[in-house]
Amino acid sequence: MAGGHRLLLENARQVVAVCARGERFLARDALHRLVVLEGASLVVGTDGFLKAIGPADAIRELFAEDTFEERIDCSGKCILPGLVDAHTHPVWAGERVHEFAMKLAGATYMEIHQAGGGINFTERTRQASEEELFRSLQQRLGCMMRAGSTLVECKSGYGLSLETELKMLRVIERARRELDIVSATYCGAHAVPKGKTAPEAADDIIHSHPKLQELGRNGEIRVDNIDVFCEKGVFDLEATRRILQSGKDAGLQINFHGDELHPMKAAELGAELGAQAVSHLEEVSDEGIDAMATARCAAILLPTTAYMLRLKQPRARKMLDEGVIVALGSDFNPNAYCFSMPMVMHLACVNMRMSMPEALAAATINAAYALGRSHTHGSLEIGKQGDLIIINSRWEHLIQFGGHHELIEYVIVKGKVVYK
Ligand code: NIG
Ligand code: FE
Repeated sequence: MAGGHRLLLENARQVVAVCARGERFLARDALHRLVVLEGASLVVGTDGFLKAIGPADAIRELFAEDTFEERIDCSGKCILPGLVDAHTHPVWAGERVHEFAMKLAGATYMEIHQAGGGINFTERTRQASEEELFRSLQQRLGCMMRAGSTLVECKSGYGLSLETELKMLRVIERARRELDIVSATYCGAHAVPKGKTAPEAADDIIHSHPKLQELGRNGEIRVDNIDVFCEKGVFDLEATRRILQSGKDAGLQINFHGDELHPMKAAELGAELGAQAVSHLEEVSDEGIDAMATARCAAILLPTTAYMLRLKQPRARKMLDEGVIVALGSDFNPNAYCFSMPMVMHLACVNMRMSMPEALAAATINAAYALGRSHTHGSLEIGKQGDLIIINSRWEHLIQFGGHHELIEYVIVKGKVVYK
């Protein structure tokens, strides 16, 4: 029956659906069978969800009588799912260029942290108005969208007091409403505030969970995930366990920083607590890798971190071979200034020895899985959100060319063009 639809994308050279209908992540052999259609078209409905995808001729016949608000001729082009960035710290004010100079002169991340720098260097974030923080977040998310991201995990974590953390979460909530590309994470346990011990700071965070639940019930702030920086000299395994368990009891998904600078058994803890994901994992143990694979706890790998901090690379190959669900994130933060998931995929391939299909799955369906959103995001599948990018080339060039975003001609969120 004829009807009205939002968008018709016609006759693409390639449509990279990524996975088959109903698959919620890709691991092991499935990673070598990405679903790619040639000469295909795609329809997004007025509700912003995908209505049809298939051979161009079949779609033309099926929808011959229908009307579209917008049509894009995709001849010679490639359509991919919007990219998913599973780990960012995009809300802060001020800058830390002096720390970059310190690192170039040989200081380590922890030496800077212990000298009061790093995450603790937050004065400007505390003083900044909500409007100022929102404007900079909006601008940063704009850069991420320009680079193809259509779902971005956004952490709080530079407040280190409930008041400033709530300010950051309100800013993230506003971005969620205005841009519709946000997964929100409460990262109150990003560092131990001056004058407190880790167990005291953990208690404060645990006591803030009922407040978050109340704000969620009133529809004021919606938080999806709970995060902790589980690290030697920050939150140890026991404090991490208490915070994460309490966050889970309050209805949040667990998605935390672990095994980054020191082996902490964070991967094992994540598997035990039913975490959706653990990030970093440069120092993960073999047992931790096994436990994550069995628990279907995603590993969010962050190639910019090893690059910026000159750390050893996470063992992506070992994780992939053991069947872990591997996802990627930019780790955008004042210390690793990268907006671009194409660049992140490029680094993952070169430095972590991932293949291009593995990197694309990690930056789409598996990153969506890590955020608990793979039923609506991360692949091109009827019933999912119409979030996609159109590039003027074959899909592999998006990875090979890294940060050259001229390839990306359109970025579309829920069927609406947000970049052209
Ligand atoms: O993921 N490791 C903790 N958090 C960030 C760094 C944040 C910062 O230095 O401001 C990370 O790399
Ligand atoms: Fe981080």
